[in-house]
Amino acid sequence: MNEEFTYKMENISKTYARKTVLQVENLNIKKGEIFCLVGPSGAGKSTLLKLMNFIETTDTGHIRFLGKTYGPSQVPPLNLKREVTTVFQRSALMTTSVWNNVIYPLKIRGKKIDENEMKRIEKILDDLGLLKLKSRRADKLSGGEAQRVALARAIVFRPTVLLLDEPTANLDPANIHIIETIISKYVQEVDSSIVMITHNIFQARRMADRIALLHKGKVIEINSKNEFFENPHEDVTKDFLSGRIIF
Ligand SMILES: Nc1ncnc2c1ncn2[C@@H]1O[C@H](COP(=O)(O)OP(=O)(O)O)[C@@H](O)[C@H]1O
Ligand SMILES: [Mg+2]
Repeated sequence: MNEEFTYKMENISKTYARKTVLQVENLNIKKGEIFCLVGPSGAGKSTLLKLMNFIETTDTGHIRFLGKTYGPSQVPPLNLKREVTTVFQRSALMTTSVWNNVIYPLKIRGKKIDENEMKRIEKILDDLGLLKLKSRRADKLSGGEAQRVALARAIVFRPTVLLLDEPTANLDPANIHIIETIISKYVQEVDSSIVMITHNIFQARRMADRIALLHKGKVIEINSKNEFFENPHEDVTKDFLSGRIIF
């Protein structure tokens, strides 16, 4: 299963209460890339992510994921769904220690935590500045600390796909920097695909390989980062980048 793309989406759409909120003709996500999704509030970004982690299913078209194709109402088996993990703006942590939260994905996958594994996990905690907080109750942490725990828990089992829905919204610059650094490092180490929704075009500029602008449920433009910022093709993209409010 050596495909270049993790996802290939064709003619997918999602309709809620007779309103079509997402309609995408073609969207492919490559292995090993950071793909940023930008666009105004209500554009359909989170809806697209919910199709990619199979919380929701497409109403039309199909999604090819890891070599198999899923149409309306079809989802991959649990073991394949578990290749995708999502970090939200505010992730719920369990009311137990930081350590127990972080190893949880390994436990539910039946992975043994031997000494090497312990070291690997501690390295992730250390990279995220969490090693000292290992025994602390996760539900008592600050927003930035909690979000770093959520990221540690997401990457600990090396998912094939990491989906991030505004993972650094409302965080201070120091926390944003730690989280961005780890995400960039992670994609290189593991060769997974990262899809990140961000409100912050500067963050997209720092992190993305490719960027898509979503507007009113449609993909307006997909381009390499440089092309997207230096030579946007569409008027809506130009307006969006110049800070004009687009609805
Ligand atoms: N479960 C739902 N039921 C009804 N409408 C929804 C639901 N989820 C999203 N929507 C609507 O779909 C549109 C896109 O939402 P969303 O994907 O959350 O946008 P974004 O993440 O870009 O801000 C919005 O108009 C939103 O109100
Ligand atoms: Mg959203």
